[in-house]
Amino acid sequence: MLWPMCGIVGYVGSQQALGIVIEGLRRMEYRGYDSAGIAVVDRSGADARLAGAKKAGKLANLEKELDVRPLPASTTGLGHTRWATHGGPTDGNAHPHFSDSAGVYTDLTGKVAVIHNGIIENFARLKAELAAENVTFLSETDTEVVAHLLARDFDEAGDGDLGAAMRRVVNRLQGAFTLVAVHADAPDVVVGARRNSPLVIGVGQGEAFLASDVSAFIAHTREAIEMGQDQVAEIFRDGSVRITTFDGEVVEGKRFHVSWDASAAEKGGYDWFMQKEIAEQPQAVADTLLGRVNGQGRLKLDEMRLSEDELRAITKIIVVACGTAYHAGLIAKYAIEHWTRVPVEVELASEFRYRDPILTKDTLVIAISQSGETMDTLMAIRHAREQHSRVLAICNTNGSTIPRESDAVVYTHGGPEIGVASTKAFLTQLTACYLVGLYLAQVRGVKFNDEVAEVLTQLSDSPAAIAETLNRMEPVRKLARSMVGARTVLFLGRHVGYPMALEGALKLKELAYIHAEGFAAGELKHGPIALIEQDLPVVVVVPSPKRPLLHDKIVSNIQEIRARGAKTIVIAEDGDDVVAPYADFLFHVPELPILLQPLVATVPLQVFAAELADALGYDVDQPRNLAKSVTVE
Ligand code: G6P
Repeated sequence: MLWPMCGIVGYVGSQQALGIVIEGLRRMEYRGYDSAGIAVVDRSGADARLAGAKKAGKLANLEKELDVRPLPASTTGLGHTRWATHGGPTDGNAHPHFSDSAGVYTDLTGKVAVIHNGIIENFARLKAELAAENVTFLSETDTEVVAHLLARDFDEAGDGDLGAAMRRVVNRLQGAFTLVAVHADAPDVVVGARRNSPLVIGVGQGEAFLASDVSAFIAHTREAIEMGQDQVAEIFRDGSVRITTFDGEVVEGKRFHVSWDASAAEKGGYDWFMQKEIAEQPQAVADTLLGRVNGQGRLKLDEMRLSEDELRAITKIIVVACGTAYHAGLIAKYAIEHWTRVPVEVELASEFRYRDPILTKDTLVIAISQSGETMDTLMAIRHAREQHSRVLAICNTNGSTIPRESDAVVYTHGGPEIGVASTKAFLTQLTACYLVGLYLAQVRGVKFNDEVAEVLTQLSDSPAAIAETLNRMEPVRKLARSMVGARTVLFLGRHVGYPMALEGALKLKELAYIHAEGFAAGELKHGPIALIEQDLPVVVVVPSPKRPLLHDKIVSNIQEIRARGAKTIVIAEDGDDVVAPYADFLFHVPELPILLQPLVATVPLQVFAAELADALGYDVDQPRNLAKSVTVE
């Protein structure tokens, strides 16, 4: 069984753990929403026990259960939200998993409770070993093995040291696992172990947190500590923290201050997070650009830990990414090649290492990942580094695995993105890619400073242009709501409009579950035009008329499809009325240089997909079958 990308939260302090854990789970539900569960240490009786609840489905189901069967008051607890890959998302398979070395446990109580994100590869062998000792298993999960091992180890040692027990247990495990555990007889500590999946520590005043990401505890503290791979953290009731390696050596975690606050992780009056995140795009892009120019007007990326000599030696760039981040990479290729004259390949991270890519120490691999935890992307960069290539991460999540394992990182500073479908992360990834392209051009001397400065000025105008685009979205929303009957929607574009078409189609698929395809407009006549039939909606992203060669071609493409009955939905630049006679719906976006046009022209595609999904009654923030951060290959 694999339970690979879940939300984890643990708390110890003086507040009620239940409220804090549920609040943390709510903020992390984007990580998975197949089931949720919680456990708290119950000290009310003579014999300290744990009390728990778990429910299949979204967090709301667990909350309902807690209303009917409340848990006892407690200041120590943990909780989990799960995204299942194999096996049913049942109540029984939900985490936490409980145990007690005396055999007195059910699936809702025991002495020890464990939650887990990852895969314990040797669980079958461990399970057989425990079964031979008459341990009864209540679930089909690999996680339950850890609960039993931990309960036994803790009691056998008899020293009350849950951290030490966890260290001994993780040394018996193989695979990828991040674990958090509580024990009824060690009520002042919560223990976590990290291998591969994320785990971060929050340090408050007289309280401490463990969570998959900082949004779980941001309402309580903005002081956090990164955990490295193969480390165990013990958080104590007085707010102190101890981090050790799996071998017990004490290590100093890297402290950081979270620059955004709790309101950034709340809906703030919007119906869905995605709506809020679309609206935040002007600010998010401005934040990505902030502080990038030094006193001499030269571009600086201070997280860039590759030397200028190393960057001058680069002969090839390969961008690796998944999903929407991959589309950002496709657009980045146009800009980076144009500005630097270095060849750029863009590769789906999941395909990259399997095709035996040609990598040398002079290859720069750029990994784009909002979460910094996407397993496909992580595996791609590990492969690249084994081949001695340099890796630069473009990432939104401070301290996440991908930037930690890269030679350099440009953080996008986009703030938390909760909606599963990526919006502001996409625009900020694009912005960061532009910055990297300009930086390389500057370092390699292929662009003069004033040329770089000119693009930077255009970039600094883009937040206002995005804001203006957002002001014009009412007709897009209206159109989307009129299209609930659509079965298929096609998207066309040329140049950077082509990846935008792919992104528009992806958004519609993931949110509205409508069949959608993006095509390069010029490729249409080589096959896909056969799909065009009466009233088929086709969205076309039109490049600026200032690029007449491109513009003329796409206007012809629009005519071709309209002649075959397509309903054309056209996104064109302000002042471009040449397309008007061929457009059933025409939306104008503010003018930007063509390479930057995706910063504005993507916005109507996002709004269109989200509104149509909402009109169809779907959950915009949590589309079916998806998860925000995919930590499985
Ligand atoms: C998932 C999400 C997508 C996202 C992709 C890459 O599939 O549903 O929205 O684009 O992962 O995520 P990353 O965190 O690496 O940017």
